[in-house]
Amino acid sequence: MKTDWSKSHCGVMLCDVERTYELMPEVKPIIQDLIDTGELEFDASEYLVDVKVHMLMPDQFPCIPDWHCDFVPRDENMQLRPDLVTGEKMYLWVSGEPRTEFRNKPDTIDTGTTTWAVFTQADEHRGVKSTIRTWRCFIRLVPKCLVKDRPTGNADKTHRGGLRRHTQVYLDASNFSW
Ligand SMILES: [Fe+2]
Repeated sequence: MKTDWSKSHCGVMLCDVERTYELMPEVKPIIQDLIDTGELEFDASEYLVDVKVHMLMPDQFPCIPDWHCDFVPRDENMQLRPDLVTGEKMYLWVSGEPRTEFRNKPDTIDTGTTTWAVFTQADEHRGVKSTIRTWRCFIRLVPKCLVKDRPTGNADKTHRGGLRRHTQVYLDASNFSW
């Protein structure tokens, strides 16, 4: 059955899997499908989940439009420290177009009903501009060991572990970097 994402909350922010299921039961079959493959690097309890639901219009990007990597450590001045990345795997699923573009084609896990991209802190990727009006759901499983208390662009961390209060869209990749 196809999910009507317009009926969903705007997402969750770094929630345990079980808490995610309580807050957004509609994502449970999708995430459980991945867990049930037995292909996750760690036990499901070792992951935090990000869910973002977007209402997109043409020319809007649901995520950072320039090449970047996720969860790269930063120093206290917000400077990236790629020398500190480790190799733990993250898992990404999106409900439809526009799909995240990876510089190098990532490995995938195909559950039979869902396809997940498998990537690390070293895998460059970027958001893709929507060409349609659509509701899109993004789900990412992140190992807890990558989510340290460190400087990030989002200074307000009080919504971690709960429902998202807002979700950005981005416009114009020409002079945007991360
Ligand atoms: Fe990203």
